[in-house]
Amino acid sequence: MLVKVYGSAVFGVEATTITIEVNIDKGIGYHLVGLPDNAIKESSYRIAAALKNNGYQLPGKKITINMAPADLRKEGSAYDLTLAIGILVASGQIQSDDVDKYIIMGELSLDGSLQPIRGALPIAIKAKEEGFKGFFLPKQNLKEAAIVSELEVYGVENVQEVIDFFEGKSTMEPAVFDTREEFYKTLDFPDFDFSDVKGQESIKRCMEIAAAGGHNIILIGPPGAGKTMLAKRLPSILPPMTLREALETTKIHSVAGKVKDAGLMNQRPFRSPHHTISNVALVGGGSYPQPGEISMAHNGVLFLDELPEFKREVLEVMRQPLEDREVTISRAKFTVTYPASFMLVASMNPSPSGFFNNPSASMTSSPNEMNRYMSKISGPLLDRIDIHIEVTPVPFDKLSEERKMENSASIRERVIKAREIQALRFLEYGQVNYNAQMTSRHIREFCVLEEKSKQLLRSAMERLNLSARAYDRILKVARTIADLENAADIDSNHIAEAI
Ligand SMILES: Nc1ncnc2c1ncn2[C@@H]1O[C@H](COP(=O)(O)OP(=O)(O)OP(=O)(O)O)[C@@H](O)[C@H]1O
Ligand SMILES: [Mg+2]
Repeated sequence: MLVKVYGSAVFGVEATTITIEVNIDKGIGYHLVGLPDNAIKESSYRIAAALKNNGYQLPGKKITINMAPADLRKEGSAYDLTLAIGILVASGQIQSDDVDKYIIMGELSLDGSLQPIRGALPIAIKAKEEGFKGFFLPKQNLKEAAIVSELEVYGVENVQEVIDFFEGKSTMEPAVFDTREEFYKTLDFPDFDFSDVKGQESIKRCMEIAAAGGHNIILIGPPGAGKTMLAKRLPSILPPMTLREALETTKIHSVAGKVKDAGLMNQRPFRSPHHTISNVALVGGGSYPQPGEISMAHNGVLFLDELPEFKREVLEVMRQPLEDREVTISRAKFTVTYPASFMLVASMNPSPSGFFNNPSASMTSSPNEMNRYMSKISGPLLDRIDIHIEVTPVPFDKLSEERKMENSASIRERVIKAREIQALRFLEYGQVNYNAQMTSRHIREFCVLEEKSKQLLRSAMERLNLSARAYDRILKVARTIADLENAADIDSNHIAEAI
């Protein structure tokens, strides 16, 4: 008998439905066709054991399985459950006409229990788009798939529950989850707050500007100055995630198999990979392509603490995604793209010993050491960081001060207002949402200077020997400073602060 069942393959952050035909005929053998990888080819062993241990069997006949579309490579062990159900129906061990109305996915253990899958959210989105009635998947992935409404999502623990459902012996109910309501109810902000940081008013101002315009920022300062402390507090002043952003980011985490219990993410991600990270782990890739840290940080913050400690080539591979806000990974037969729009926050000591130009420091670095240290960070990378700021340690009397500092919530209010102005400004410009994303064309249109500001900028460029890229950066940052003041035009004060 010939039976059709459906699974799904994930490429990048999108899913494609896979039609699986199972035919059982006279003869003997287990034949899989349609570009399956080794993990799928090995499925027969897992399926045989899982069925046996639940009182069913792999029929001793000729089983032919065809996975379509044939030109798409199918990977991994998540089709075990799909194949098992197909075989049970095709061999008459289950009587059901409904299996083709559902997407069925999960990796089988030998006892018939299910292991989690990757990409449950994109698969659920596709299933709904294509009019499937429901989606069976391992219980561990239930919350992420249930984000999709108008799709019956069933989280199951073992193959028996699925069999019972199709035989009409089950009272299992689909998961109900009101995405919108849950999202706004649980919208959450990080525990770290700027009110913990004593003094450092000017640095906090820089962080506010960075957050308001989405500018990348690097904090340069000696050990203990509070760089890590400040960076960790940046997400607390970013605007709350929109539902659309939350979906985008959760999709990426779903593809990486790293969605937390809550399902839809309600906080901007803050990723701080260690400096020993590999290229692939940072930007994504691998033989089964997976999103890297820069994509896990999509719509949030990527924090590279101690920037010069990262391997130079690791930082180099990040340059293109920083510009494009996505990363494309090419393989012989396909390419995948992962979104990677994040705010880069970096920190570094001014020299390997941590001290620079500080006569009171006992340890200073030789010029050679300094050169080697700085050469790890390429100019083009630094050019993509709009705000460079020096952090000096706060003096003791500030640290011990009892005065209450402004908290993150009130800083965030100003940031949100400035972002609203930018959203309006770039309404017709599609790809651009905030000032940091402006291209030179936008800069020419939105950062027009009056004569006084022009002169100020000109003399600063000459005196400080600034590059053309630095010129653009100053204009972008000045635009954000003006937006924080709700000023339509950039004036010389804005330019001066930006410089
Ligand atoms: N402005 C501040 N207000 C309150 N505490 C501070 C401040 N600056 C530093 N500290 C304290 O000093 C500790 C060290 O700061 P932090 O780890 O952020 O320094 P760092 O600049 O990242 O140093 P390193 O270069 O060694 O990584 C913090 O955990 C915090 O307790
Ligand atoms: Mg630190």
